[in-house]
Amino acid sequence: MRETSYRTALVTGASSGIGAAIVRDLARRGLEVHAVARRRDALTALARETGCIAEVADVTRPEDRAALLRGFVPDILVNNAGTSRGAPLSSAAAADIDVQVEVNLRAVLHLLNLALPRMRSRGGHVVTIGSIAGLHPLPGSPVYAATKAAIHAMHGALRLELVGSRVRLTEICPGRVDTEIFGHAAGDAAKGRAQFLDGYEVLRPEDVAAAVWYAVSQPPNVNVGLIELTPTLQAVGGLQTLKPQ
Ligand SMILES: NC(=O)c1ccc[n+]([C@@H]2O[C@H](COP(=O)([O-])OP(=O)(O)OC[C@H]3O[C@@H](n4cnc5c(N)ncnc54)[C@H](OP(=O)(O)O)[C@@H]3O)[C@@H](O)[C@H]2O)c1
Repeated sequence: MRETSYRTALVTGASSGIGAAIVRDLARRGLEVHAVARRRDALTALARETGCIAEVADVTRPEDRAALLRGFVPDILVNNAGTSRGAPLSSAAAADIDVQVEVNLRAVLHLLNLALPRMRSRGGHVVTIGSIAGLHPLPGSPVYAATKAAIHAMHGALRLELVGSRVRLTEICPGRVDTEIFGHAAGDAAKGRAQFLDGYEVLRPEDVAAAVWYAVSQPPNVNVGLIELTPTLQAVGGLQTLKPQ
């Protein structure tokens, strides 16, 4: 039996990490979940496990985005697909800059552009996975931070655009979560795990999925706008003041 009045969801970036956990959680609660990513094998396994509908698509491709939303607009759209490349901006490869902007920002804007007209007339819920990197200055990934800060700005402005409709908007900004993203950021899975995960007590993808469920399961008069979610043993802040050399 469904635990919400929402019947359908589309989750991007569903082949691993946070997206796969969100798919598992929503499917378990009785929703029809469309799981989107490029890796067919991982999606097929997830579909077998959860009953979700596997949608092999690259969210940076306009034709794939159009196909995903042709004739179907979900009640819940979870913009989760994302990538990180850890290089400093001063030495980043051009392709690494572009892929983060394409996946983390451009694809989200275009999916919303396609989905919102229908959602606006019918109601629905947009959940976007941002990051604490979009809210606070963090060292190491200025391009990634720029994409997530843009997501934060977009959410605020979109809330104003949609107020009066029955579209609810939630931005979830996690701190460190145990996923494959650190392998992409470090350029190597083992290196990413050793640098960012081994020995730390971090969030699990399921913790973020629980925050998604908290937002989408509120009664219709409640909009959860922003959730910042960090490991207990992680805090953001600090100031660098240097003496002249
Ligand atoms: N892990 C963290 O500490 C953390 C913290 C804050 C925010 N986040 C955010 O959480 C979200 C999920 O990341 P994750 O940590 O779960 O990392 P992940 O395990 O690497 O998952 C990323 C997902 O995005 C998909 N993806 C990447 N490029 C895509 C494309 N062009 N088209 C379709 N799907 C694409 C990947 O699938 P395919 O490769 O199969 O396409 C994968 O399913 C991201 O937006 C990330 O920025 C993560």
